[in-house]
Amino acid sequence: MRNLLVYYSHYGNTAFVASEFQVALEKKGQTDMFELEYKGSKPGLLPRTFYRFFPSQVPLAPVPFDCGQYDLICLGIPVWGGRPSAPVSKYLSLCHNIDNKRIICFLVYSIEASARTCFNYVKRSLEKNGRPRIILEAFVPWQKVQDKEFLEKAISEVVEKACNA
Ligand SMILES: Cc1cc2nc3c(=O)[nH]c(=O)nc-3n(C[C@H](O)[C@H](O)[C@H](O)COP(=O)(O)O)c2cc1C
Repeated sequence: MRNLLVYYSHYGNTAFVASEFQVALEKKGQTDMFELEYKGSKPGLLPRTFYRFFPSQVPLAPVPFDCGQYDLICLGIPVWGGRPSAPVSKYLSLCHNIDNKRIICFLVYSIEASARTCFNYVKRSLEKNGRPRIILEAFVPWQKVQDKEFLEKAISEVVEKACNA
């Protein structure tokens, strides 16, 4: 099984969760991990707010969009203004060859209702690009990122579910 792990993180919480997912996914097969980044320097709050509404304008640093060679795709998504952070939204609009793939979306957030709305948006975006075998979600409140027991359980449950799908 070959896995692709793609995430964005501004404050570091999603990056931390991604590194824990990487450990779990490596046990299932080779895992390629990529951090979504802005080309050049990190933009401030004002441009990031602009990109929240116009994610197609995000100047993304190069990252693989073709998921054809992977069996499982894991996306690390910080919730920002009720949506994925803009680099993730841009990635969602460009990733392809996702037919029959297992997809895990983990969302790092502060307000659960907002994270659920965001996941629905992510799911709709992915379904525009193809027909994944399954799209699973894992919700991680940012306050629980350092809660080892919580995180291990959340990750192992969703990874097992994806692998058995
Ligand atoms: C400007 C800003 C807007 C945010 N908007 C939301 C939101 O709409 N819904 C939510 O659940 N969390 C929201 N959050 C909380 C973030 O999802 C949380 O801080 C998360 O840890 C960010 O991920 P990161 O540490 O990987 O950058 C927001 C945080 C900031 C700073």
